[in-house]
Amino acid sequence: MGLKVLITGGTGSVGRQLSDFLSEQNVEVSILSRSIKNNSKYKTYVWDHKNFLIDKKAFDNCDYIIHLAGAGIADKRWTKSRKKEILDSRVITTNLLYKALSTSNHKVKGIISASAVGFYGQTTTESNFKEEDQPGNDFVATVCKAWEDAVNQFQKLGMRTVNLRIGIVLMKKGGALEKMAQPFYWHVGSPLGNGKQIIPWIHITDLNRIILQTLQSTDMEGPYNCCAPDPVNNSEFSAQIAAVLRKRIWLPKVPSWALRLILGSRSVLLTEGSRVSAEKILQTKYKFTYPQLELALKSLLASKP
Ligand SMILES: NC(=O)c1ccc[n+]([C@@H]2O[C@H](COP(=O)([O-])OP(=O)(O)OC[C@H]3O[C@@H](n4cnc5c(N)ncnc54)[C@H](OP(=O)(O)O)[C@@H]3O)[C@@H](O)[C@H]2O)c1
Repeated sequence: MGLKVLITGGTGSVGRQLSDFLSEQNVEVSILSRSIKNNSKYKTYVWDHKNFLIDKKAFDNCDYIIHLAGAGIADKRWTKSRKKEILDSRVITTNLLYKALSTSNHKVKGIISASAVGFYGQTTTESNFKEEDQPGNDFVATVCKAWEDAVNQFQKLGMRTVNLRIGIVLMKKGGALEKMAQPFYWHVGSPLGNGKQIIPWIHITDLNRIILQTLQSTDMEGPYNCCAPDPVNNSEFSAQIAAVLRKRIWLPKVPSWALRLILGSRSVLLTEGSRVSAEKILQTKYKFTYPQLELALKSLLASKP
């Protein structure tokens, strides 16, 4: 179809798979990164948000920006400086893109940015969060809100602006599933916390296909929840991993206090969660390849680690 995209964070777990998927669909991919990686298959441009520097050649012939860059939310303890890095790597990078585009000639038509279901807050409630719902007020929600607000500035440039509120992306390598499944391979897997917290998830194939549809459908604009229509709670998720791997759950649930001791305050990412509605994306006529968890897990989990 001849579209050209610039992907920030194109070197990450989602970005690598998205780049290959889009290339296969004849979308020309280039990457905006903090450094040139020698083994990259894609033309790479460099930026440095800490010094507010960007190579504006990155926008040459670019139709859309796909903005995935950001320091891993779950990767390290949430110290004050890590929290600042998580926020700045999303908001300052977005502001840098905005400043660069507002001061140069380009033909960029829009920006499709990652956000997260954490926008609604990391709480376990009866809610089924929809796009029009208010943001939560915890750390991740505050980051997502500030990130989306920064992305929404691009509307002032007349550009199409889409924020994808992504659930946990299930993929073979590099995502949360690898870590979640590991204890089950070792026969020590069990549900976390009280097991009632919902896990909004999406298979990488569906995320890639939703991003392609978003590129192609110029009427898609604003926030979209990106999660499968069949979220399950942590106990059910654990049971399904065990079933797919043909393992038995024999240990009790890992208590929330123990996770907090090991992980610090970011343990809420594992111990809390509510439903997030897929209705809006379904209304775009998007058809999920993996609407149900069992199918998704079977496609991703090998019987050996
Ligand atoms: N994976 C999920 O389950 C999930 C769920 C919801 C939302 N998301 C969001 O989707 C996006 C992509 O996720 P991912 O799992 O692919 O992330 P990832 O593997 O951690 O990759 C993110 C990329 O961002 C860049 N980056 C990392 N730290 C940075 C920093 N301190 N400053 C600036 N750039 C930095 C890196 O690119 P360079 O080294 O090339 O600069 C990195 O490859 C993220 O923003 C994430 O929050 C992911």
